[in-house]
Amino acid sequence: MPAPARVQTVRWHEFPGVAALQRDALARVLAAAREAIEQRGAFEIVLAGGNTPRALYRALRHAATDWKAWQIWFGDERCLPPDDPGRNSRMARAQWLDHVQLPAANLHAIPAERGAREAAAIYARELRGIDAFDMVLLGLGEDGHTASLFPGRDWGVHPDSPDALAVFDAPKPPPERVSLSANRLSRARAVLFLVEGAGKRDAVAAWQRGEAIPARSIAPEAGVDVLLDAAAGNHGTG
Ligand code: 6PG
Repeated sequence: MPAPARVQTVRWHEFPGVAALQRDALARVLAAAREAIEQRGAFEIVLAGGNTPRALYRALRHAATDWKAWQIWFGDERCLPPDDPGRNSRMARAQWLDHVQLPAANLHAIPAERGAREAAAIYARELRGIDAFDMVLLGLGEDGHTASLFPGRDWGVHPDSPDALAVFDAPKPPPERVSLSANRLSRARAVLFLVEGAGKRDAVAAWQRGEAIPARSIAPEAGVDVLLDAAAGNHGTG
């Protein structure tokens, strides 16, 4: 298992329940957006897939912001047809993006329907012009995976790793996916993990013990913030 190339700094934020966690996540995203838009005229954000971010995405529907300044990227995507319910981009559109005035050109979906290898090459080319992301949203799997970086596979931790990786043997279905590499996900001004539920407790505990889980390979200079509810935390009783 590849050791992380850089040491990760983690700030843990435990909340009594998911509502408080999601409120904090919303405040952090909107604060990051305000700062990026004021300072650079654009907000480059990478979205997480899975179910945890749904509530945050629904809340973002109602945000008072200049959607023309938002550039939406994805940390990973499943190799399924664009309108398949399992697509991360479809979930984000259904919960949020199709309900706001985001210009179509600002939605940078991973063309995962073209197959992992071709889609990874296309997305890496699209990312060439992008420097550090302003914010990266990530989830945590029960095995410690994040995006589609899974234990025992290549996470792309080194500076010369490709920006996007083709994944063919993901243990979480579907097996074929595209994932940004750990190195590319780490090129960010802020990284926010959203972690909810007792099912994540073991992965959180392994992370806190310093085990080399994929989530620990995300090591931006500013460190990462992990928002977790009591059920996922070690004090969780849920
Ligand atoms: C995916 C996600 C994946 C997800 C975690 C947590 O495509 O499945 O990118 O990394 O964030 O598996 O998923 P939940 O939020 O559904 O628990």
